[in-house]
Amino acid sequence: MTTVVDPLVAAPSPVRDAHDRGASRDLSIALLGLGQVGSAFARLVATAPPELGRTVKITGALVSNTSREAPAGGVPLTADPRALLDGRPDVVVEVLGGLEPARTLVLEALARGIPVVTANKSLLAAHGDELLEAAWRARVPLRYEASVVAGVPFLGTFDRRPLAAAVTELAGIVNGTSHFILSKMETGCEYSDALADAQRLGYAERDPFNDIAGIDAAEKLTILIRQFSHSRVTTAEIPIEGIDHLLPADLAQARELGGAIKPVVHADLGQSGALSAFVAPAFVSARHPLASLSGVANGVWLKSAHASLFYSGPGAGPAVTATTLLDDVAEALTRNHEARPWCESVAATVSAPAEGRWLVRLTAAHGLPSASDTADLLSSHDIWTSRITETTSQPGSDCRWLVALPCAKHRLARALESLERAAGCEVTCLPVLEDPDA
Ligand SMILES: NC(=O)c1ccc[n+]([C@@H]2O[C@H](COP(=O)([O-])OP(=O)(O)OC[C@H]3O[C@@H](n4cnc5c(N)ncnc54)[C@H](OP(=O)(O)O)[C@@H]3O)[C@@H](O)[C@H]2O)c1
Repeated sequence: MTTVVDPLVAAPSPVRDAHDRGASRDLSIALLGLGQVGSAFARLVATAPPELGRTVKITGALVSNTSREAPAGGVPLTADPRALLDGRPDVVVEVLGGLEPARTLVLEALARGIPVVTANKSLLAAHGDELLEAAWRARVPLRYEASVVAGVPFLGTFDRRPLAAAVTELAGIVNGTSHFILSKMETGCEYSDALADAQRLGYAERDPFNDIAGIDAAEKLTILIRQFSHSRVTTAEIPIEGIDHLLPADLAQARELGGAIKPVVHADLGQSGALSAFVAPAFVSARHPLASLSGVANGVWLKSAHASLFYSGPGAGPAVTATTLLDDVAEALTRNHEARPWCESVAATVSAPAEGRWLVRLTAAHGLPSASDTADLLSSHDIWTSRITETTSQPGSDCRWLVALPCAKHRLARALESLERAAGCEVTCLPVLEDPDA
């Protein structure tokens, strides 16, 4: 009988070697990136070193501009990443953002047996599989708790609880910027004023496109889908819709209907291999856990075969992200990462939900069809409504809202197209997120 030994599996753990090497000296961290998060991390290490039993030292920080002011703790700056890796740090913390050079440097650190901790959601969403496999094959931890809802660390909990991790459905608010804007609009604020407020308070970047268009949330959802269903999807495949077409009146109507409009990510991980997901502003009833959140707060609701769990807290921001990164450093050095089995993800197709209820707004500059004409036209397409509101006047147009009862999305789309043609109105259609106990 021949015994086949996988040389990678049989290889000694470089991390264990690193632990043995470094047991009696400072814990050295190479920091890739010293922007908002990197600076907060350097401040945290300088002011509150963790209880790791060793003095923590950032040996150097990779930046593109080395003539800038050095951060707290006098961390040396460098534009040469290889020099940082050659110093054989105990851990690399990657907060460069973007795909390159982050991907190459993370792979290089792992290949050298150096554990990596990252907050880079774009990197994980685009190259998560390649990086996780590289980490597993090298027997080196790669931790990324700070890449998804950094202020609500929950991914690690699921690592330790495989039974609870049999997640069949997830829904979340994972982007604080768009949540803040919608929360402001609930008070009657126009979209542009709410965005200006978010920028003034530092909740939105000067170019807020990725946040308000749903791209940031879709990257996080890509990571969550991989984490909980081992399905490999690309961010570009996830149907996304931004929040910039919403009116304060939409938020007011949602309140009248007993709920709110929230910037939601949702995935139905399906029992039969079918995977549906979306990123969109969605109606959630007051009974849904996500309805309890406001402002920049984030939350993730997870339904497993055994229970429903809801995690909520501050979204991200440099200070909370730095804390989660430092926790991940501690986890990378203390937990037995080899105990976690490698699970290769399977390429999957993701589509928008095919069925559901929908909150629809009809808008027209010159009068809208009556409620009964609207109901008649929709019913001729086999679309039934639970409610059609009176017409309300908005600046420059009239609006009416209706709630379509559960129906196939393609049938609703056809009905709304004929309504647009017949009545000359525009339609806006938001998904309704069903209550957990529905
Ligand atoms: N901001 C948050 O609240 C937050 C929360 C959670 C996760 N994250 C994630 O954390 C990561 C960092 O975010 P951030 O807001 O700190 O970004 P940032 O302020 O733009 O900082 C990026 C840092 O990386 C350096 N850098 C970028 N490309 C480089 C290159 N090619 N060579 C050398 N240095 C380079 C920059 O150098 P210079 O200083 O010379 O420009 C800067 O120090 C991102 O992946 C982000 O998604 C951020």
